[in-house]
Amino acid sequence: MTAEESKKIWNQNAEFWDNAMGDDSNEFHRDVVRPKVTELLSPNPTDYILDVACGNGNYSGYLAQQGVSVVAFDYSENMIELAKKRQAQYGSKIEFYVADATSKESILALQRSQPFTKAVSNMAIMDITEIAPLFEAVNELLETNGFFVFATQHPCFITLTEKYMTPHSYYGIAIEGQPNEQLYYHRSMQDIFNICFKTGFVIDGFYEECYKSNKEIPMVMIVRAKKIK
Ligand SMILES: C[S@@+](CC[C@H](N)C(=O)[O-])C[C@H]1O[C@@H](n2cnc3c(N)ncnc32)[C@H](O)[C@@H]1O
Repeated sequence: MTAEESKKIWNQNAEFWDNAMGDDSNEFHRDVVRPKVTELLSPNPTDYILDVACGNGNYSGYLAQQGVSVVAFDYSENMIELAKKRQAQYGSKIEFYVADATSKESILALQRSQPFTKAVSNMAIMDITEIAPLFEAVNELLETNGFFVFATQHPCFITLTEKYMTPHSYYGIAIEGQPNEQLYYHRSMQDIFNICFKTGFVIDGFYEECYKSNKEIPMVMIVRAKKIK
């Protein structure tokens, strides 16, 4: 399944997503994703952070409230248009761009005069067709010892198919009622971690987070990948 097909679906789902996430994101993101992502990211006003696959920019807005300067991107033009409107109150604290995470060139075009201190991605790694170019580009854009915190669907527990070892894609929904099923891209944990290691990161933070009453099966894994070379 190509990035083009996947992008078409996200463009069709953009308005629904923006309404569902609103200004403060939804309960799932607030309770399951945000706390540990924020703990590992430890944002502060001196930070310059890249928000990867930012959706309607709800986490960029949260970072801007902490005084952080943010560059945020998504490949869905509709999502970026809605993000600019939704987060307009933060003015120049957040710059939004259309860029494709499957293209190293597209991400490297976001390079500014100063390197990013950190990068973050909430619940998008499993939606991205190919992730090696993203990790390579983020590594290049980060300052030394900078880190990339990403939250993604837990590949060991959350998949709609029987396959674990073999990378594959499948259709599913993120939020009940969304207009179109999106494409998910399953990768094993070793595939994700080995991309981090090959591109010059070490993993120095890791959480597995559960949702609501099910306290044994984590839905989300949150990883901090620190740039060492
Ligand atoms: C589940 S949403 C999460 C959005 C946002 N990070 C949040 O937490 O609300 C996944 C996002 O990934 C974006 N996305 C998927 N593939 C992408 C790619 N190749 N490049 C950039 N964005 C992508 C989608 O357009 C969508 O906005």
